[in-house]
Amino acid sequence: MARRKIVAGNWKMNKTPTEAKALVAMLAPLVKSDDVDVVYCVPAIDIVPVVEAVKGTNVKVGAENISDKDSGAFTGEISGAMLKDAGVDYVIIGHSERRDYYKEDDAFLNRKVLKAFEYGLTPILCCGESLAQREAGVTIDWVRLQLKSDLIGVTAEQAASMVIAYEPIWAIGTGKVATTEQAQEVCHAIRELIAEIYDADTAEKIRIQYGGSVNGKSAPELFAQPDIDGGLIGGASLKEDFGKIVNYK
Ligand code: 13P
Repeated sequence: MARRKIVAGNWKMNKTPTEAKALVAMLAPLVKSDDVDVVYCVPAIDIVPVVEAVKGTNVKVGAENISDKDSGAFTGEISGAMLKDAGVDYVIIGHSERRDYYKEDDAFLNRKVLKAFEYGLTPILCCGESLAQREAGVTIDWVRLQLKSDLIGVTAEQAASMVIAYEPIWAIGTGKVATTEQAQEVCHAIRELIAEIYDADTAEKIRIQYGGSVNGKSAPELFAQPDIDGGLIGGASLKEDFGKIVNYK
């Protein structure tokens, strides 16, 4: 059974609600696809207008973060229940920007992954190495450690339904895409890890994205790799080019 590709935009901290509606309208004719899942992961304040704007289309909406708590005195946080009720289907967890700038560690991210499943949201769990780690030859060890920690307590059935995004930190926002071989090698190692933690069937089902300076030009070759099931797209998700990435074939 072939895995369905999934192309998700990570808007990061871009677009006001008004701008978000305009972007959805601009992209609408470009992102139609029968065989690729398309997701816009948007800032919290854009969720409600974007859910409204994509109604009746093939586009699903994701959040960029989720609280590890259910409700209560956690100023500034957004709960799984709030996301679900607002019409969100996916949530990015463990993006390197949150790991680095906001010091989110694997134990914390593990709680967020479990919380997402509790509320019926599909995690897009990110992992990836720094340039120093790649140069030191510890990329695969590092990514394995991140994922093993982040997936503690996640069942095989849950894992099979989720998305992992491999994003080398040195390729994010730098215009420096990993080579196809580098991206495939790590995505393959991730699939092997999933087979090790769970079983071959779960590894066959889980979807693994590559992220880091993907654009309309680089997408076709990357997405043709056997273990790359789509992309998590930053900069290019805010432009017409996102349509090219979705319709990469
Ligand atoms: P860029 O596509 O801008 O490099 O960002 C990648 C990313 O961080 C997606 O989550």
